[in-house]
Amino acid sequence: MKVEAKELIVEGKDKTVFATDSPDVALVRYKDQITAFHNIKRATIKGKAEASCKIASLLYGFLAEQGIPTHFIEDVSPTEQTCRRVEIIPLQFIVRNWIAGSAAKFLHVEPGTKPSNVIYEIRYNNNEAGFPIINDHHAVALGIVTYKELEELYAMVAKVNDCLLKVFADAGIDLIDFKFECGRTADGKLVVADEFSPDTCRLWDAKTGDSLDKDRFRHDMGGVIDAYQLVLERLTKLKEK
Ligand code: TMP
Ligand code: ASP
Repeated sequence: MKVEAKELIVEGKDKTVFATDSPDVALVRYKDQITAFHNIKRATIKGKAEASCKIASLLYGFLAEQGIPTHFIEDVSPTEQTCRRVEIIPLQFIVRNWIAGSAAKFLHVEPGTKPSNVIYEIRYNNNEAGFPIINDHHAVALGIVTYKELEELYAMVAKVNDCLLKVFADAGIDLIDFKFECGRTADGKLVVADEFSPDTCRLWDAKTGDSLDKDRFRHDMGGVIDAYQLVLERLTKLKEK
């Protein structure tokens, strides 16, 4: 479907969001931009917009098959998608199936350690506050969510994790951890409202342990676009099965 970008809603680090003719629909345009450590590190990587957009679209599809509601509507070009406009809840949900990244540091545990339980964290999505890890009571006290919504959100987070863990396992990839955000539709329904891509997950090849995500950029490992394209190739094959 042809959709025209109207006024700018938000210029993000790696995506731009535009209004469209329809008040309920936004156009998301992915960029070839990659950033890390809250924009301290930046680069342009040719082909990243297309790889991320296609990976996100495939993953939204797998979530939809499991009945998990997302804001995604459809792809409108290789680097653009339409999404339902929702009120974004300023929380980042972080799910850790293995301990890595910041958790390896603050828990003082070897990266790659498998915990006995899945670890769920929430972060306050607020730049001035420095994106702190908070607990449920902080989130309710800030008026961001109710306890009832949190219960629903955690159930959705667990469902998303079950689905994506299996999808990536079938693609020969361990889903180490990931982050996502949720939103409220006009009629108050909670939906997943964030991209899933190697920008927002840690993905390790199940055989070799190679990193197939943004850590390659964060830690100057090289081969960023090759890793994103490998993830895309494996997910595409899975979809075609
Ligand atoms: P962390 O180990 O740095 O806390 O990150 C956990 C996961 O969440 C990792 O897959 C990267 C992702 N993430 C984001 O996508 N955006 C963020 O702002 C943060 C802090 C993490
Ligand atoms: N997503 C965060 C940022 O862009 C953290 C990171 O990915 O390193 O700053």
